Amino acid sequence: MSVKAVVGAQWGDEGKGRVVDLLAQEADVIVRFQGGSNAGHTVINEHGKFALHLIPSGIFNPGAWNLLGAGTAVNPGELLAEMDHLAEAGVKLDRLIISERAHVVMPYHQVLDGLDEAKRSKGGSAIGTTKKGIGPCYTDKAGRIGLQVGDLLDRDWLAKRVVELVAAKNELITRIYEAEPMDAEQVLETVWAQAQRLRPHIGDTLEVLDTAVAADQHILLEGQLGALRDLDWGTYPYVTSSSPTAGGAAAGAGLPPYLITSVVGVAKAYTTAVGAGPFPTELEDEVGQRLREVGGEYGATTGRPRRCGWFDAVAVRHAARLSGFTELALTKLDVLDDFGEIGICTGYLLDGEPISRVPLTRQLERVTPVYETMPGWQRPTVDCRVFADLPAAAQRYVERLEEICAVPIRQISVGAERAAMVERG
Ligand code: GDP
Ligand code: IMO
Ligand code: MG
Repeated sequence: MSVKAVVGAQWGDEGKGRVVDLLAQEADVIVRFQGGSNAGHTVINEHGKFALHLIPSGIFNPGAWNLLGAGTAVNPGELLAEMDHLAEAGVKLDRLIISERAHVVMPYHQVLDGLDEAKRSKGGSAIGTTKKGIGPCYTDKAGRIGLQVGDLLDRDWLAKRVVELVAAKNELITRIYEAEPMDAEQVLETVWAQAQRLRPHIGDTLEVLDTAVAADQHILLEGQLGALRDLDWGTYPYVTSSSPTAGGAAAGAGLPPYLITSVVGVAKAYTTAVGAGPFPTELEDEVGQRLREVGGEYGATTGRPRRCGWFDAVAVRHAARLSGFTELALTKLDVLDDFGEIGICTGYLLDGEPISRVPLTRQLERVTPVYETMPGWQRPTVDCRVFADLPAAAQRYVERLEEICAVPIRQISVGAERAAMVERG
């Protein structure tokens, strides 16, 4: 048996979707363990190109179970749209199960995410959320007034809860935000109709996991976002409302932590972020612009241009420390193919003092990165499949990252398609 957690080592969008799609060819069960449709996981394979938001990136393996764990935040309408899109492409969905304990992103959560952000923007403190209702949904979960997916299946129960909840949210919406109230009846009819379509896919995901564990099968846990946006250990408050770490994987999927046999941190060969908050290696010059254009760095969910900069080894070491990476998958190496010189941030200066850890956000906002520079290779890498195929300077770059992060790099992607991967064994 193996339980492999695949988690983001930076600020999200590291290429988790493409790594999971590849690894899932050998997996029996794939579980998305946290987050919601704030995710955009791009997969390019023989079925086409997909930006998955809620559905695990293992969905293209027809023999595997794909689960949405209790730790996820599920928008039923968005999930159905994604299912329809995949079905049209001929992808089988009969082994997709949503935990009855996952939380529902209700229409008012999405409205409140937009209103909260607009209010914060006026005060100059916007988080830059995806406006998918993720923060308000997890807020209600922690406040113990959320709805679990299984609750959508009992009409009488749901009707009573929706009337109470919409009335409470309307007070906020009208009195605090001075916006238009929501219609409880309409909310009820919308989610009830969606739940009827989802009904065959709602169930107890623990049963599937227990069967897989008993049969010694291979389980993959797919994270959303990255460690620097972790609610506890990220750049708070510029974070999401869940835990994208290996610890979050065990909790969100519902597996004992000791069953996790390996943790793959996914890191880009440089760094990107969307949304506000400190990003020490951000390059607001033509180098950053070039990384954005060559890397196609525009959000898979919101289309926002991503902020770009050099690889930040302090951030990746922080992520490795939190999740206990047993290996790294380094993505998008090909994007650096034409750069003459490549920077690596090996530490920060905080008020002139060297530090090697990620400090509190108000301190991280004023650090200066310390760089070392490596020569580029200025040759295409897209056709490389084994380490020896890579140009010598690219090999040295990978080995240097490995050394500074103190984690072996076992996979190196050199293109967005499933097959464009250098495997190091
Ligand atoms: P995720 O959220 O971690 O799954 O990552 P995203 O899908 O949001 O962002 C990764 C982007 O990089 C997508 O557009 C991928 O198609 C693309 N991508 C992934 N791996 C590679 C690679 O090795 N090379 C190139 N050029 N693009 C890649
Ligand atoms: P994947 O899974 C990149 C960012 C938002 C914002 C912060 C909080 O594709 O890597 P939220 O909507 O979660 O309340 O926003 O987190 N963010 C992401 N950035 N990739 C994502 O997902 C993201 N999901 C949220 O930009 O800064
Ligand atoms: Mg993404």
